[in-house]
Parts: sequence; C-alpha cells; structure tokens
Amino acid sequence: MPDLNAPVSPANPATPATVLQMDHVTSGYMSDIDVLRDVSIDVHKGRISGLIGLNGAGKSTLFKTIFGFLKPKSGTIRLEGADISGHEPHTLIDQGLWYIPQESSLFPFLTVEENLRLPLDGRRKHFGNAVQQRLDDTLQKFPMLRDKLHAQAGDLSGGQQKSLEFAKAYMVHPRVCLIDEPSIGLAPKVAAETFEWVRQFAAAGMGILLVDHNVRRVVAMADHIYVLSLGEIAASGTPADFQGDLYAQVKEWLGITF
Ligand SMILES: Nc1ncnc2c1ncn2[C@@H]1O[C@H](COP(=O)(O)OP(=O)(O)OP(=O)(O)O)[C@@H](O)[C@H]1O
Ligand SMILES: [Mg+2]
Repeated sequence: MPDLNAPVSPANPATPATVLQMDHVTSGYMSDIDVLRDVSIDVHKGRISGLIGLNGAGKSTLFKTIFGFLKPKSGTIRLEGADISGHEPHTLIDQGLWYIPQESSLFPFLTVEENLRLPLDGRRKHFGNAVQQRLDDTLQKFPMLRDKLHAQAGDLSGGQQKSLEFAKAYMVHPRVCLIDEPSIGLAPKVAAETFEWVRQFAAAGMGILLVDHNVRRVVAMADHIYVLSLGEIAASGTPADFQGDLYAQVKEWLGITF
C-alpha cells in the first residue's frame, strides 16, 4: 500500500531530480559584510528556476558563489547531491556546471572557433576526439556562427557575442547552466532569440538558473521563481503564484514602498 503522505519521489517525472541545491548559504566579498544571507534554492533537471530582484540585491553574487568565485561563509551547495561548496570553477566545469555571466566570458582577440574550442581543448582527457563532432553539432544549432568562425569574437555585434556565449555553453553540454542577465543590452528581437535558447537548453535536459531584469519574461518561462531582496529570499513560488497583479506583488516582495 503506497504511503500517500510520503514526499513525492524524485523518480516521478512530475518532480524531476534536484540537480543543484543551495542550502542556507551566507556569502559576501568581505568578512564583516554578508551580501547573501541564509539563501536556499533548488534547480531541477530540465527545468528553469528564475531569480528576480532589484539592482544590487545579490543575484550575480549568488551565481559567483555557486560557481566557486566566492566561498560560502556557511551553508552547503550541492551538484547532483555532491557537496561542491567552495570548489574551484574549473573543477565545477568538469562536474557539469556552466556559467554564462552578466559580463562577457569571451576572449575578444581569439576567433569564434578558438573561443568555442577553448573549454574543450583544456579537457582533452574528458572530451578526446569528440571536440570536432561537438563543434559540428554546435554550428548546426547556431548556423549564424558558421560564417563568422574566423572572425575575432570582439568584432561581433552584441547579439552575435551572446549567441557565441550560448554556443560555448552548448559545446560543453553542462548538466546545470547558470545564466545571468542574458538579454541585457539586446534589441527585443535578439533578446527573444536568447530566451528561446534558454528554453531549448532546458528542453535538452539541463537544469537552468536564470536571472533577468525582464521580470515578466522570467515569470513566464520559469517553473519556479525566487525573489531576492537585500540578499535574502523574500518569496518563492510557481508561475501560478505570481499571476494577478504581478507589478504590485513583485513591488511588495521587493520591499518597494514608493
Ligand atoms: N567585487 C565586489 N566587491 C565588493 N562588493 C561587491 C562586489 N561585487 C558586488 N558587490 C556588492 O554586492 C552587492 C550585490 O551585488 P550584485 O552584483 O550581486 O547584485 P545584482 O543583484 O546582480 O545587481 P544587478 O541587477 O545590478 O546586476 C552590491 O551591494 C554590490 O555593491
Ligand atoms: Mg547582477
């Protein structure tokens, strides 16, 4: 007889496995100032967790803490169950984590092809002869980059550089992808394309943690939404919880009183 009160098993497709978990994490740049305070969030396989918050709330700091640029002062970060708190970024990439930062991660004086190959070339042991195959697959998915393979990354337009960032992530096939402000500075049509890649990454089975200033877009695409206010999770829920007067609700959660 099944126990109807038992927690839903992660094997149930309705609740996919948790691939990334922040558990009561406190972190910051200086010993006496905490930017993130007691933050807990989950990311599930093939799903999008969205994070929204005002400028300076700590969204990028949260990414930097997960990706090992900052060590948590307390709390635990787990990737597919393994404790990765404070691990170095390059070891996290080997374990299946990737980060598309708010700023560019491209090398502007290298060509598009060199930028694409770079993360895999340094991991020959892991990827071996698969690099060319990955490059071919990636160019099929991002055909615009095929004509630009020998151009310097720094000479591409903003939208093309963003595509290269996503293509670089696609080369690695991460299990979890952290995506910080992908639409910033892009024209609406190019921004919409960027969100379509986010959706496709999730459909391919990656767990996604997405931050964007376009709150409506994040709420529309995420499976679960977290509101970060002054370094703390002020609210969280499903898109259904965010229906109704989104503007008034988000204002309240973010503590905006004007
Ligand atoms: N390298 C740093 N050293 C010290 N403090 C920092 C550093 N980077 C960010 N901060 C501070 O940490 C706080 C959170 O910044 P963070 O960049 O994480 O915010 P954010 O939510 O990503 O904002 P935005 O929406 O503008 O990108 C801010 O008060 C900021 O000044
Ligand atoms: Mg930021």
